Amino acid sequence: MKRFEGKVAFVTGAAHGIGRATAVRLAAEGASVAVADVDLAAAEQVVAELGVPGIAVECDITSRASVDAAVAATVERFGRLDVLVQVAGHNLANREAVEPGDAQWTKQYDFTFTGAVRCIEAALPHLVPTEGAVVLIGSISGVVALGTNPYAAAKAALSSLVRNLAADHGPSGVRFNIVAPATVATRAFKDPQVLEELKAIYPLRRVGQPDDVAAAVAFLASADAAWITGITLPVEGGLTTGPGHLIS
Ligand SMILES: NC(=O)c1ccc[n+]([C@@H]2O[C@H](COP(=O)([O-])OP(=O)(O)OC[C@H]3O[C@@H](n4cnc5c(N)ncnc54)[C@H](O)[C@@H]3O)[C@@H](O)[C@H]2O)c1
Repeated sequence: MKRFEGKVAFVTGAAHGIGRATAVRLAAEGASVAVADVDLAAAEQVVAELGVPGIAVECDITSRASVDAAVAATVERFGRLDVLVQVAGHNLANREAVEPGDAQWTKQYDFTFTGAVRCIEAALPHLVPTEGAVVLIGSISGVVALGTNPYAAAKAALSSLVRNLAADHGPSGVRFNIVAPATVATRAFKDPQVLEELKAIYPLRRVGQPDDVAAAVAFLASADAAWITGITLPVEGGLTTGPGHLIS
């Protein structure tokens, strides 16, 4: 069953990792997909692999003008918008030397939280006529204490955002949800040994794959989740069940 036949999805961070897997999954289920990313060359490669109508659009979620232009280009190309998936992001502390103090908090918040707001505000006018769906990628770090504080707090703030947006826009039929993954094997983890060692903290004894997350995103974006809005869905291999599985 193709749940997204005739529908159009705009996926940020879709050139790599979880975003790429989401674009591929939605396309496999019939969606036309805008692969939106700062890495345009890799986005174009993803589009070439989709096998459905798609476009690569340059999109930097830290710039309102860039996000607005990318969404506008998508609607111009396909004539409608049904699904926004905001995936782009990372823990800045893992990728660059972030100054301590205010800078590390404000920069991460602007990237993770305000970045999602920019995408939602650009997409929402187009999602109302289609009674569309928004799915944000949060993090299990925003649910339990596991990770760098500015990143975790910014991801946690998304849960409040979707609850409020779900309440505000429920009457217009637009739904807002979050998928909160734990460890997923992407380029975010450069050392395979780290992923190998992390298996032990998961009751299911493996880390996640991008497809595990894409499947949950596709569910929440689809009509199968028509009566679900405002939630944060952990996709975490049982991590938050507690430490019982570590005690024999
Ligand atoms: N990998 C994990 O273990 C994990 C766990 C929990 C949450 N997440 C979240 O999942 C999302 C994707 O992570 P991933 O592991 O697939 O990372 P990734 O680095 O593989 O992919 C991230 C994508 O975002 C793009 N991107 C980066 N900055 C951007 C910007 N300013 N505007 C637009 N695109 C930008 C990158 O080019 C890349 O294509 C992130 O929001 C991350 O916080 C990841």
